[in-house]
Amino acid sequence: MPSGLACVDGVLTPAEEARIPVTDEGLVRGDGAFEVIRLYGGIPFALDRHLTRLAGSAEGLRLGLDIAAVREDIELILGECAEDDELVRVMVTRGGRRITLLETLPPVAESCSLGQVTYSPPRLLDGIKSLSYAANMLATRLARERGFDEALLVTPHERVLECPTASFFAVRDGAVLTPPLSEHILDSITRALVIEVAGASEEPLTATDLETIDEAFLASSVVEVLPVRRIEAWDLAAPGERTTAVASAVREQIIALTSG
Ligand SMILES: Cc1ncc(COP(=O)(O)O)c(C=O)c1O
Repeated sequence: MPSGLACVDGVLTPAEEARIPVTDEGLVRGDGAFEVIRLYGGIPFALDRHLTRLAGSAEGLRLGLDIAAVREDIELILGECAEDDELVRVMVTRGGRRITLLETLPPVAESCSLGQVTYSPPRLLDGIKSLSYAANMLATRLARERGFDEALLVTPHERVLECPTASFFAVRDGAVLTPPLSEHILDSITRALVIEVAGASEEPLTATDLETIDEAFLASSVVEVLPVRRIEAWDLAAPGERTTAVASAVREQIIALTSG
């Protein structure tokens, strides 16, 4: 069965027929956790890492979660899955619902432009991928209102963080750099993969540092590696040589881990 399929508490339905109570605090207060997992030919990439992060998010939120049941839900929905590249979205709510959705991969552009948006991460949510994403979604809208494709989140003290749904990397003098997790950013699975395959180093970056970089790219489960062609008024090579090499290395590793 194609995208548009849902599994709620172990029961498969077409997504448009899936129901949860409107009183669920996952909806009322955004109190819950989620993951988005990319499929390659129907095989989830880094499923164990996503489930470990989901379990950590639930524990951080003091949310009881049967992670084995989440894995079974995913297996159930994948049993119906087409072979095309798709996404699995998993949400767990304060109301106790386990929701798994099979989604079509959104179109991914060849490069993107970034507009800075000032943002202070809530430290209380360190290590938690919570359902409260309104600020992230608003940041993207604010950047788009200014004519950019996506937001680059920067603290009031000018520390570069990440994008609303992706990690941020810069290339300077051939070295690949990314802000450290101590900046209260998400411990992204693709970020860890880029650090592993590209030997990227974790270094604090300021908005002023951005004027000295040669290339930049985003990294996430959905986009893999996405070149940045412009940040505010600064044009960048897109894709630059280093970004192209990192994108190939990441893709190779993903294929190696999802084939056979
Ligand atoms: C804020 C944020 N940073 C980074 C990422 C990328 O994380 P991952 O590589 O685990 O998909 C996401 C993904 O949703 C995110 O929401």
